[in-house]
Amino acid sequence: MIQKPRRKGLWLLGLVLISCVGAYYVYTEIRPVVIFGLRDDYAHAIPFQKTPHGLEGISAKDCGGCHKEIYEEWKTSMHAHAYEDPFFQAYWKKDDNIWVCLNCHTPLENQQPTLIENIPDERVEKATQIPNPHYDENLRQEGVTCAVCHVRNGVIYGPFDDSVAPHPTEFDPAFRTTKVCYRCHNVVAGPLQFYNVGPCGTYPEYEGTFFMKEKGLICQSCHMPEVTRRVAEGAPIRQGRRHLWRGGHDPEMVKRAVAIQVQANPPAPMPGEEVSLTVTLINAGAGHKIPTGDPDRHFTVEFVVRDQDKNVLAQDVHTIGRWILWQPFILEMYDNRLLPLASRDYAFTYDLPKEPSNVVVDIRVRYHILTDDQHAMLREKYELRTNAPYVFTIYERSFPLNTHLAEVLDAQPITPYRGCASPPEEQLPLLNHTTLG
Ligand code: HEC
Ligand code: HEC
Ligand code: HEC
Ligand code: HEC
Ligand code: HEC
Repeated sequence: MIQKPRRKGLWLLGLVLISCVGAYYVYTEIRPVVIFGLRDDYAHAIPFQKTPHGLEGISAKDCGGCHKEIYEEWKTSMHAHAYEDPFFQAYWKKDDNIWVCLNCHTPLENQQPTLIENIPDERVEKATQIPNPHYDENLRQEGVTCAVCHVRNGVIYGPFDDSVAPHPTEFDPAFRTTKVCYRCHNVVAGPLQFYNVGPCGTYPEYEGTFFMKEKGLICQSCHMPEVTRRVAEGAPIRQGRRHLWRGGHDPEMVKRAVAIQVQANPPAPMPGEEVSLTVTLINAGAGHKIPTGDPDRHFTVEFVVRDQDKNVLAQDVHTIGRWILWQPFILEMYDNRLLPLASRDYAFTYDLPKEPSNVVVDIRVRYHILTDDQHAMLREKYELRTNAPYVFTIYERSFPLNTHLAEVLDAQPITPYRGCASPPEEQLPLLNHTTLG
């Protein structure tokens, strides 16, 4: 008779023990230590590459001796900074400088201090490593360097089938397709990671939007603008592409992606009336969702009402991005990013004072590389030391909330579809990266 409750207690104890062991097993054996899974092509470094005949080395500087303009362009790109990038360095430190990140940020075996012998059960933290005798520290600093895309087995691969070069060349049709970008711009989810698309997963966002494919726009159409020039001194004039790869670090590129229009009802509000403002955002210039890539990226749409003394009377903020629960496991909760050509309205209403006034509403759209919290965390804990901006204002205007509103609304620039088959040169200035590092 007295034994029953004790047996129940034992059962409970057993259950608790089993759940603890289960949780321990999930945490140590199933749950990945990094925020993405492995796919065969990036689970390994690109094998060691020797210097092609006729060249002194495979560093970008070696190529730059002849391919001057391409070298100067590449130097200003995030590809060239993929290793030194202070945001990468801080996050990498947070992840205990784990080796797998290098397979995209410094992907050549020549650029990596250790060789990976094997990866038991695809668990990155269990990989066995040995020192790499061919490690070239200077090449590592070059991040996604020329040889990453162009050099294989002593041959330089490229988009031409008739080039005459002082080094061996081979035509590879993949250079004029999205295949060149696929390996690194499609980071997949791992087990127990529930993303819609993986982090830095721009490629599947583009795949899903066949309209862009129908238009014939590939990654290079927008990220490597077309140019007619000599590839090297004395070479023939050809159709090629600038090696710029502008993205979220360049406010001008982000501006190209978004068209913004403001409307008001009534367009000329009287004192005491309720006025409602609508901001329409259109993904008018990107072939994938905006924002894309790194899951920290987001836009904010802000309304701030102030009086003539700059006192804030009312405000409202909306966020465009993805909401991910990172702990205890990765679960993507919500994604309200804008698909290509999609538009969205953000509305705001305000009751005007009964007396005539000089109340204005400031409307601002900002692009954030990181959240303020992430930025502060990286500074405090992971030695982020850079003044590189991580928030850009891409749109900012003041609208008077009185009868002059209509004139200001009418004076807005018209913002048509911008699909950038070939963006005008002046819209893509070379970035000044002196603030990095
Ligand atoms: C001594 C000068 C010189 C150096 C150094 C040099 N190249 Fe070239 N490269 C050329 C010339 C000349 C061509 C031919 C251009 C043409 O036919 O229009 C060429 C062609 C190419 C092509 C086009 C190949 C094709 O058939 O599509 C690529 C890609 C290329 N080089 C990449 C590189 C890379 C990467 C490096 C460094 C590892 C490099 N080059 C170093 C002179 C050089
Ligand atoms: C992320 C990959 C990538 C990197 C890194 C890269 N290239 Fe290219 N490169 C390409 C693609 C894609 C093309 C094809 C462009 C086109 O359609 O004409 C190309 C084309 C070329 C060409 C042929 C001319 C042209 O414009 O098409 C040369 C020469 C060349 N690259 C040299 C270099 C040099 C030198 C570097 C380093 C300073 C470099 N590339 C870095 C992807 C890359
Ligand atoms: C070997 C891996 C690799 C390949 C191949 C590659 N990328 Fe990248 N790319 C990266 C990495 C890593 C970064 C991030 C660098 C950073 O911010 O630290 C990046 C950054 C970018 C950015 C800039 C994003 C920003 O934050 O401003 C653009 C745009 C881009 N890549 C486009 C392309 C295109 C287009 C191709 C194909 C022609 C391509 N990439 C091929 C690895 C790669
Ligand atoms: C129709 C033009 C267009 C096409 C096609 C396109 N992009 Fe973009 N992309 C943009 C614009 C504009 C931006 C800037 C907006 C932003 O950063 O959200 C951008 C941003 C990016 C970024 C920066 C994200 C970040 O975190 O800062 C990456 C990476 C990128 N694109 C990669 C790609 C890849 C890979 C492809 C091909 C699969 C591609 N893009 C196709 C226009 C395009
Ligand atoms: C499969 C390729 C791949 C791997 C592996 C990878 N990355 Fe990246 N990473 C990228 C690409 C592509 C981008 C650029 C996308 C974008 O701009 O949003 C990027 C961008 C980043 C950025 C944003 C940089 C900036 O300037 O804002 C950080 C931080 C970063 N990676 C950290 C890491 C860390 C840490 C690891 C390892 C745990 C890692 N990455 C592994 C491909 C990769």
